[in-house]
Amino acid sequence: MVEIKSIGVVGGGQMGSGIAQLAAANGLDVILHDSDSTALNKALKSISDNIQRLVSRGHLSKDKGADAFRRLKGASNLEDFHRVDIVIEAIVESEDVKKKLFAHLDKIVKGSAILASNTSSISITRLASITCRSSQVIGMHFMNPPPIMKLVEIVRGADTSDDTFNTTKCLAERFGKTIICSQDFPGFIVNRILMPMINEAFHALYTGVATKEDIDTGMKLGTNHPMGPLELADFIGLDVCLSIMKVLHAGLGDSKYVPCPLLVQYVDAGRLGKKRGIGVYNYSKTTKEMKP
Ligand code: NAI
Repeated sequence: MVEIKSIGVVGGGQMGSGIAQLAAANGLDVILHDSDSTALNKALKSISDNIQRLVSRGHLSKDKGADAFRRLKGASNLEDFHRVDIVIEAIVESEDVKKKLFAHLDKIVKGSAILASNTSSISITRLASITCRSSQVIGMHFMNPPPIMKLVEIVRGADTSDDTFNTTKCLAERFGKTIICSQDFPGFIVNRILMPMINEAFHALYTGVATKEDIDTGMKLGTNHPMGPLELADFIGLDVCLSIMKVLHAGLGDSKYVPCPLLVQYVDAGRLGKKRGIGVYNYSKTTKEMKP
């Protein structure tokens, strides 16, 4: 089993920045890359603010905070990844874009390195198939936000080796996570169940069953969910939800997975959720009361 000392994270959005923060705070050397330099700088700033907050609230010692700062580096170039032990990919939920990245990473990283994807739904077997290291490709699906949520869903592709699985499992446990294992089917465990519920909530809104507030309150107080499904969709990102529904529909072939037209329309309108200030809810007006 490879001992993981260094990690490359690709994608500095909500998930990648959280994974990079978690890794640096747990004593790994981290290189974070995003193809968009503005997104990369924003991610580095938000990680730095979060670490400072953890230290000032006493959740992280001063020494560990300083160590995390020292360990984290941004990279505008993927070539900087040649020495990392594992790469965790957290870019846009598109099979084509992820495949291009995996093919590129396969050429750059050292032979022993693991390529992990934080994909919510896309086939690990197909991502692995375009590399020359399919036994070292795995799904490592963190929940949002990665530093806080306790779960990592590990997905083995058809060729993923026991060694790769055990190394990834140890890494997740080092981060203090509980792991679950899923076979490589669309949406794995969590999103196979969660996304149809979110899609149904959009249908309820679309067909006028109730207001968005009543749908969310119903699911919060009626089923003891911490967030309502529409509020959660905004938190995840409506673009991510739509991509996952498309993967479920294409992969499982059942019309029950067709994305709700209202979800499609919101994404077309750029209403992507909290990250854009507007989704189902408008956060520019209601930031305080809608904060999850
Ligand atoms: P996001 O939209 O917040 O961030 C994606 C980042 O990737 C952006 O900063 C973008 O500039 C960058 N990017 C896009 N293409 C790139 C490329 N070729 N090379 C380098 N950087 C690139 O997305 P988010 O929410 O962080 O999701 C990322 C991945 O994590 C997706 O696969 C998603 O399905 C998965 N995921 C998302 C969760 C969520 O709640 N949002 C939860 C668990 C997994």
